Amino acid sequence: MAAVAAQHARVLSGMRPTGRLHLGHYHGVLRNWVELQHEYQCFFFVADWHALTTDYDDPSKVPQATWDMVVDWLAAGVNPGEATLFVQSRVPEHAELHLLLSMITPLGWLERVPTYKDQQEKLKEKDLSTYGFLGYPLLQSADILVYRAGLVPVGEDQVVHVELTREVARRFNHIYGREPDFEEKAEQAIKKMGKKNAKLYAGYRRSYQEQGDEAALEAARALLESQQNIGIADRDRLFGYLEGGGKVILPEPQPLLTKASKMPGLDGQKMSKSYGNTIPLDALPEDVEKSLRTMPTDPARVRRTDPGDPANCPVWQFHEVYSDQGVQEWVQQGCKSAGIGCIECKQPVIDAVLAELKPMQERAKEYAEQPDLVRNIINEGCERAREVARETMDEVRHAMSLDY
Ligand code: TRP
Ligand code: SF4
Repeated sequence: MAAVAAQHARVLSGMRPTGRLHLGHYHGVLRNWVELQHEYQCFFFVADWHALTTDYDDPSKVPQATWDMVVDWLAAGVNPGEATLFVQSRVPEHAELHLLLSMITPLGWLERVPTYKDQQEKLKEKDLSTYGFLGYPLLQSADILVYRAGLVPVGEDQVVHVELTREVARRFNHIYGREPDFEEKAEQAIKKMGKKNAKLYAGYRRSYQEQGDEAALEAARALLESQQNIGIADRDRLFGYLEGGGKVILPEPQPLLTKASKMPGLDGQKMSKSYGNTIPLDALPEDVEKSLRTMPTDPARVRRTDPGDPANCPVWQFHEVYSDQGVQEWVQQGCKSAGIGCIECKQPVIDAVLAELKPMQERAKEYAEQPDLVRNIINEGCERAREVARETMDEVRHAMSLDY
């Protein structure tokens, strides 16, 4: 059983600065972030260095894209009072950890990441035979590990990067977690918990090590997390000691798979800028109406009197996102019997999309009018993030004998 994150409660995720976001981002990612921020300690960041791994030849759009994207996060309801929002390049500890991890990461691990060859194929017009591009999944590992995040909300395509992160963390802990006096230090740390907890810990450890009792392992981890009397270094030792390993300096994160967004684009394909089928979060109401009104329907319904089938219609996919059962039944019935027209059918969707966008656009307007406020939110977030990252780097440097 692998060592998992001590900070089960810490969530980290990043997004490349793509500028203004659309409803696909909202339903695929942001809605999830908004929910997570109530439950966990969340860190959300703009992965601006990641943008350079593919767009190194023209970084001039990154600054504006960053601010626009942050405004859209805030507009969508990501709350800087609950979550920490920051920009990657303002926390240089990411780069330091990336460098140190690069020393122990076999080239083959990076070459085998499926996105490496895929993206090179896909973006043929770019020369992606660079060091930075090969290393970007490791940069992502550093992004995660520098916060010792337990959970990383990602889409399906990013799960392999979290897997790589777990392997790198394991290797790091294996190489650098073996202090010469580890057992002695662990035993001392146990004592610091007080008699009662020390006894509990020892009992759980025995049950796990002798009988493989997973419940005991979980209980011991929970016990460690609730301890106020021991420092981070001791806690990491005791996490490792539980499982018979060394110190857990970089805990292994888990991917938190975001349910595939059902949000279709205006043509029924996945909503994406590159397909030109998006509804941007800042779209004017009249443009939203127009795009939905003109979007294609079941091709079998040439005339109003021709019956159709919602299964062949992208509008139906919008009803699946936005409409309650009553409306959905009305659509099914009315479409198949030619009882309703397509414009009629689209109206509830238009209303729902407009209602969803309205509060977001109001918030976006407020933030757009106060660029200093947005900058302050990011400044504060960067500071908070740095504090956590610095703590990790102190430990990492110590483990690698770089704290002299
Ligand atoms: N690579 C991710 C993407 O392209 C963005 C990202 C960078 C990220 N670092 C991360 C996501 C750390 C989660 C955790 O979407
Ligand atoms: Fe699509 Fe609705 Fe028209 Fe049927 S009635 S084809 S579901 S838009």
